[in-house]
Amino acid sequence: MRFLLAALLSVLLLAGSAWAAHVNVYWNVTYIEADRTGDTHRRLITVNNAYPIPPIHVTLGDTLYLHVHNMLDEPTSVHGHGLLMNGTNFMDGAGMVTQCGIPPGESFTYKYDIIQRGTFWIHGHYNHHNSDGLRTPLIVHDERQYDGEYLFFLEDWYKQSYHERLRITTGPGTVFPPPPTFPHALINGVKGELAKPIHFKKGKTYRIRLVNMAITEWFKFSITGHKLRVIEADSEYCDPLEVDGVDIGPAQRYSVLVTAHSDDQFNFNYNVTMYASFIPVKPGLNPRHYQGLVEYKKYAPLKKVAEPKRFVWAEDLNLSSLSGQKPLPVDRQIDLTLGGSPFANGQVLDIINNVTYAEPKMPTLYSALSLGKLAFNESLYGPQTHAIVLNHLEYLEVVLRNPNSLPHPIHIHGHVFQVVSSGPEEISPSLGVTEVEVQNSKEPVRNYTGRVPISRDTVVVPSGRYIKIRFRADNPGAWLLHCHMDIHMGMGMVMTFVEAPDVLQETQRIPRQMADFCRKLNIPIKGNGAGNQGFDLSGLSQPPKKVEIPS
Ligand code: C2O
Ligand code: CU
Repeated sequence: MRFLLAALLSVLLLAGSAWAAHVNVYWNVTYIEADRTGDTHRRLITVNNAYPIPPIHVTLGDTLYLHVHNMLDEPTSVHGHGLLMNGTNFMDGAGMVTQCGIPPGESFTYKYDIIQRGTFWIHGHYNHHNSDGLRTPLIVHDERQYDGEYLFFLEDWYKQSYHERLRITTGPGTVFPPPPTFPHALINGVKGELAKPIHFKKGKTYRIRLVNMAITEWFKFSITGHKLRVIEADSEYCDPLEVDGVDIGPAQRYSVLVTAHSDDQFNFNYNVTMYASFIPVKPGLNPRHYQGLVEYKKYAPLKKVAEPKRFVWAEDLNLSSLSGQKPLPVDRQIDLTLGGSPFANGQVLDIINNVTYAEPKMPTLYSALSLGKLAFNESLYGPQTHAIVLNHLEYLEVVLRNPNSLPHPIHIHGHVFQVVSSGPEEISPSLGVTEVEVQNSKEPVRNYTGRVPISRDTVVVPSGRYIKIRFRADNPGAWLLHCHMDIHMGMGMVMTFVEAPDVLQETQRIPRQMADFCRKLNIPIKGNGAGNQGFDLSGLSQPPKKVEIPS
């Protein structure tokens, strides 16, 4: 009888896991004072008064309801990084792009249909909330088989709040570059020195998910004496590629498979290095090295293995999408030059094609929905919204050019894009030149090398290089393109794609509750980027003027 019951129960459980579930997650977004690393006592933003924020786990086919209650003293919003939100642009969570924030004291439920596989993350997308702590991985489990799974989410943690750092970087009168700041690494929410062991059983294969949730820094990951097989880049599965390590830019994710050795006489180390290529090397501060244990057997001796002679990193152009999607055709090419520049008001700001982003007076999506035929007029979103209107279903190639000394992890909302090639870019000396940049600008043009290109949602554009990406405008909505280094976002390296406003107007509406939030915050929901009707853009502040540097 007991056996029968147990059997019945397991059948029910099995069936249950095959059904799409409704997953409810409750987030009280709160401030707390805490010291996460031993010398960084400060105010931070977290969930339910505790940190780290627990990662969210769902299964392909589920619906995730994320109930966000705002206990801060200003509006907030959250974004599902990498979720395409096709048909639900209004749930994208980009503050002043797809929604007015959730006012203090109010709650909003984000609904996510989980129809993509892979590794994502959820983060604040209002002002500084991501930088100050509001972020956690979102893991989508699917039918893929392996013997076990480990997750590493990696963060850089600063003594200074985002606003202090932004002030140091852009404040009138600052000399550029600003004095470097050296954050600590958090590994799975705790300081890197405390990284926990992971356990391998001989002969078994493990999936390791890596999420870089840092706001400035890059992370390298490897396991001494083991090869990694990359199977996922930013939620896109790829043909397995054997490497020695992965180098992960801010906001990027990877999954690797690792097969354990066939004997368990030794334990090994996994290695996490946090670094920024644009900050001077300072032993112990940049880069910072962390190690954790890969434990085969308790108390087994630690095996030291020399690094391979030619250490192979995962590179975008060597990854090949499992989808088999050939390079897309190109209907239109959009050329974007990323950079930084001194401005006449004494600030150093970031630009894309000479425009530094500033929020419009009402969410861009709501303008696109309410402007009728005028929604195709790019200037009506406001000069500093930097809107480019895309036509429904057109194929785009975007050239991301980086003539400057800092690499930029560029992310586009609502899309994954193919990374098809990279090439040298002429250096612009406006904010200084680094050795890496000079080196990069001498490397030849490179195309993807695999069966087909990889697609992903965040690509690192190295200094002194351009990267060509392609995607199809198959997702009507207002979508940001921006650098994922938060200070660069704050400095204006942001622009907006307004995609198929005609289709958008026929298919999407602002949820009533979101309209109420805007009213509460005194933000219009109908009109242009200035919150006015028709062509009247009065009330928008004048864009600051660039200082031209003779080259
Ligand atoms: Cu991770 Cu604008 O997003
Ligand atoms: Cu950047």
